[in-house]
Amino acid sequence: MSQLVGKRIVLGVTGSIAAYKAADLTSQLIKYGAEVQVVMTRGATQFITPMTLQVLSHRPVGVDIWEEGTNGMPSHIEIADSADLLLVAPLSANVMAEFAHGLAPDLLTSIYLATKGPVLLAPAMNGKMLEHPATQANLATMRARGHAIVDPAEGMLACGYEGNGKLAPVEEIVSRVLSILG
Ligand SMILES: Cc1cc2nc3c(=O)[nH]c(=O)nc-3n(C[C@H](O)[C@H](O)[C@H](O)COP(=O)(O)O)c2cc1C
Repeated sequence: MSQLVGKRIVLGVTGSIAAYKAADLTSQLIKYGAEVQVVMTRGATQFITPMTLQVLSHRPVGVDIWEEGTNGMPSHIEIADSADLLLVAPLSANVMAEFAHGLAPDLLTSIYLATKGPVLLAPAMNGKMLEHPATQANLATMRARGHAIVDPAEGMLACGYEGNGKLAPVEEIVSRVLSILG
């Protein structure tokens, strides 16, 4: 359980109902010895509190780009520079669109633009949102940029629909992290 000792993972969490699974993901990565810097979008904080992820990651969680430097949080450029991996799980349709189009309205999207290292994305959304040509085009852009994608799974979605779009199991995301960094 020490394959990730010395590795620094920036874990982006976005506004998906699956955001609560970031708690388990954070714990698993910490168990493998990783240093985990959690960065949440405002949307993500509607689904899980920064406090939960702060306690599990043993570090302050970044949310507001305008509060950089306070609370011991380094700047978005430093966070990007120090990351061995930028992992975004769950990745919402909205943030994927921002990534695809180079928009940087908040801390996570600014870190993404400043990241030169490997990027691993785990999209999660309603199946219709996933199938939309706009989302599919953004997903294709992510792949074309060389980002690794943990494909969403089939199953019962939180919105009540059966279909594709569930966040991949946490174990699968962790095993992709291990194959990139381990
Ligand atoms: C109950 C609920 C669940 C949602 N689940 C998802 C989801 O799984 N994936 C997604 O892309 N958007 C989902 N949305 C919509 C996003 O929250 C919305 O697009 C939001 O603006 C995205 O925030 P972000 O930019 O911080 O990720 C959900 C909205 C609600 C109200």
